[in-house]
Amino acid sequence: MTKYIVQGGKPLFGEVEISGAKNAAVAIIPAALMVDGTCRIENIPQISDVTRCLKILEQLGAQIRTINRHTVEINCSRIHSTRTSQELARKIRASYYLVGALLGRFGRAEVAMPGGCNFGGTRPIDQHVKGFSSLGAKVVVEGGFIHASTDSGRLKGANIYLDVVSVGATMNIMMAAAMAQGNTVIENAAKEPHIVDLANFLNSMGANVRGAGTDTIKIQGVDRLRGGSYAIIPDQIEAGTYMAAVAAAGGQVLVKNIIPKHMDCITAKLVEMGVEVEEHEDTLLVRRTGNLQRTNVKTMPYPGFPTDMQPQITTVLSLAEGTSLVTEGVWSNRYRYVDELRRLGANIQVDEKTAVVEGVDHLTGAPIQAYDLRAGAAMVIAALAAHGESEISCVQYIERGYEDIVEKLRRLGADIRAVEEPGDSGELEAHIG
Ligand code: EPU
Repeated sequence: MTKYIVQGGKPLFGEVEISGAKNAAVAIIPAALMVDGTCRIENIPQISDVTRCLKILEQLGAQIRTINRHTVEINCSRIHSTRTSQELARKIRASYYLVGALLGRFGRAEVAMPGGCNFGGTRPIDQHVKGFSSLGAKVVVEGGFIHASTDSGRLKGANIYLDVVSVGATMNIMMAAAMAQGNTVIENAAKEPHIVDLANFLNSMGANVRGAGTDTIKIQGVDRLRGGSYAIIPDQIEAGTYMAAVAAAGGQVLVKNIIPKHMDCITAKLVEMGVEVEEHEDTLLVRRTGNLQRTNVKTMPYPGFPTDMQPQITTVLSLAEGTSLVTEGVWSNRYRYVDELRRLGANIQVDEKTAVVEGVDHLTGAPIQAYDLRAGAAMVIAALAAHGESEISCVQYIERGYEDIVEKLRRLGADIRAVEEPGDSGELEAHIG
């Protein structure tokens, strides 16, 4: 079992290089299953969710060649199975993308239902199912598996209106429709940067997807996707997390390898709080010297403030002057981590979707736990800002989505180290992200 020990209260200085986007990678790797040829994928983040995705593909018959730490070549010309193992698929939420990819190319898929969720709320997939059914698939959940199949072996294009703006459903339907017969239109589509990234990946392999990044996506089905080369976009949330860390702990950091446009929704809030952010071509210089000011934040689908930054920004606001309101507009329950922040001295009351954050002068180190990926990132930020020592347990959640977080923070002057302790890793079926 790994824990992080953090001596907080030290400002951060230096440069941090942002890795490839997790939520793009966990869709693009399954999408490689649709490609009859070799696809080379660059800027892949080195995180446990990615390792699991690659293992699942290998079990289905993909040949995977690691070129370097961030580049792999995947050849899915000889896929021998369309059924995933329970063991691995249950460990990543994003295993639902395997349904869209397998169904799109082979007309059938049997994928273990993604594991339970640690937000506390439910994570339905009804919009994914609605999309596949509209494309002509029969979808049933039985024995812990999603079984999806078609009579003819090929999906048929359709018009699909999403009842909720869902990132996962948009990407899954986009994949399935890429090789369907005829045209598909997805209305009320999500617009996150990773949706555009998946569309660009599919197009670079020969698909015909237009309008990704708007709420109407049009897909003309093609018979075959061929090989090619593609580089994944930088991770908006990883970048935002380091920006929030500087806001909370103070200091000055150059956040490198980012797309500034993707950061606007996060930058805007930090600036309101008194953080200075200077934008350059593919970097942001983030500086916090004075006191933090209160503000209100509401999470929404892109280009709104991302829900995946909600725990981190709430942590920063816990140190701002005055009372801030945080409203969670995407998930029904994403405040479990607040109890942990209270252990450090934060003053936060939660009423359903709203957190009322009374800023305190400082936080004080204590033993705390990462409940999930982003909650875990928030614990790291809190511990960096807190006076004294904190011990963060269950960090395997953090490592699902943050490449080399300890090393990257140490290079910024943080006093953080990972220690191994005997015992169960606590690696549960996974969770979120
Ligand atoms: N929803 C439905 N029905 C569906 C799908 C979603 O009602 O069929 C609802 C959800 O309950 C939620 C809302 O729609 O209230 C949005 O869910 P969405 O489908 O957009 O989420 P997701 O695709 O399951 C991805 C990210 C999450 C991120 C959300 C929202 C991946 C692998 N996960 O999840 O990322 O919070 O989009 O942006 O891309 C994380 O990285 O920490 C993480 C949790």
